[in-house]
Amino acid sequence: MTTQPTDPGKRTAITSAADIDLNDWDFWGRPDEEREHAFRLLRDLDKPAFFPEPEFSLGGITGPGYHALVRHADILEASRNPEVFCSGDGGATNIPDLPAEFAEYFGSMINMDDPRHARLRRIVSRAFTPKMIKQFESDVDAAASRIVDELLETGPGCDFVTEVAARLPLKIICDMMGIPEKDYRFVFDRSNIVLGATDPEYVSERADIAHALLTAGMELQQLVQDLAALRMETPTDDLTSSLVNANIDGERLTAQELGSFFILLVVAGNETTRNAISHGMRLLTVNPEQRRLWLEDFEGRAPRAIEEIVRLAAPVNYMRRKVTRDHEMNGNLYRKGEKVLLYYWAANRDERVFDDPLRFDIRRDPNPHVGFGGPGPHFCLGAHLARREITAMFRELLRRVPQIEAGEPERLLSSFINGIKHMTCEF
Ligand code: HEM
Repeated sequence: MTTQPTDPGKRTAITSAADIDLNDWDFWGRPDEEREHAFRLLRDLDKPAFFPEPEFSLGGITGPGYHALVRHADILEASRNPEVFCSGDGGATNIPDLPAEFAEYFGSMINMDDPRHARLRRIVSRAFTPKMIKQFESDVDAAASRIVDELLETGPGCDFVTEVAARLPLKIICDMMGIPEKDYRFVFDRSNIVLGATDPEYVSERADIAHALLTAGMELQQLVQDLAALRMETPTDDLTSSLVNANIDGERLTAQELGSFFILLVVAGNETTRNAISHGMRLLTVNPEQRRLWLEDFEGRAPRAIEEIVRLAAPVNYMRRKVTRDHEMNGNLYRKGEKVLLYYWAANRDERVFDDPLRFDIRRDPNPHVGFGGPGPHFCLGAHLARREITAMFRELLRRVPQIEAGEPERLLSSFINGIKHMTCEF
């Protein structure tokens, strides 16, 4: 069986919340307007909708199903309360529990609770403070400038995703880790499989998804472990060297921890930022008055514009939590062992919090979006870096190709990542 979605003409219309099945792959192939309508219906329910476990699993134990948290207030509260809504015990990045063999590659800190999570986060977070990111600023700016040089050489009609949006985050993460340029393509292809496995462009048969994920995980791990062996002998100033050699506090990562952390960085840092840039380009294309506003004062308006892009792009659609004990939250009961899905994309459109939520407004203030996650121990470690990269990319684009426009996006078929696979650009 392939994962091809139903012909859009044959889909039934969603008229009430009862028509919505978030486990149906077809739902995720629907256009944005239908998705927006569906999540509005879910937000208006008296209590979060409950869905059974999806039929598709990677072979792990299936559970009792999940509550779809779609309101901003629920996501904030669940994120703040990791003792009740935990990220470990099966993982935060998947609905069915992750089978043991996957944990080797995909079991990094995003899928852990404190104290294990806190230890790993402490070791790696030194690389992500605003001060450290500042040191990277000139590298990020130079890389964005080179990408635009090459875009101008390639000329209009090319794929904005592969020629522009994907390249900056890929280069920055590889540079941070010390991965040489010859391996960029290898990393790019594997990260597409890890986050795009449900799309037939990356894995054509659904039955092959588990194997494809494990192979991609193993290959990425091998790449960084080979590098780590070199850096243990001869350290350089890259992140791999500092993670495998005891730092000032005497802490270091084991080979397995380094492998799964690298996979987390590659997937968390690449696809997300790539999709924010692609969605941002599309938003500026369909909202020319916002582009004009931004061009009037790029630096002054950039901080709010970036938050607004991340709000509407919401590249990570959801994260999962498991309920550790019976608990009442915002008037609803959650039972031990059930799962909740924190739908950031939906919370970022919650009309209880955002005025005219579907409007792209680069001056929006306040903008308490949850695109980088809610307040809590797992809040995105790469948020400063991502903001920096998105700003650098739009600074170069709007300065040197101010008239650039994006075509219709070709969407990734995924319930987890709000992705754009391809999108032409004209200028
Ligand atoms: C626009 C770009 C990005 C978005 C939308 C995004 C979104 C997120 C979200 C939603 C989470 C999970 C929060 C939770 O479970 O509560 C997360 C965690 C994480 N992100 Fe990002 N991210 C982005 C860029 C990056 C970058 C550039 C990096 C690194 C290079 C990165 C590294 C991480 C890591 C390591 C975690 C796990 C943190 C933990 O478990 O403590 N992200 N991100």
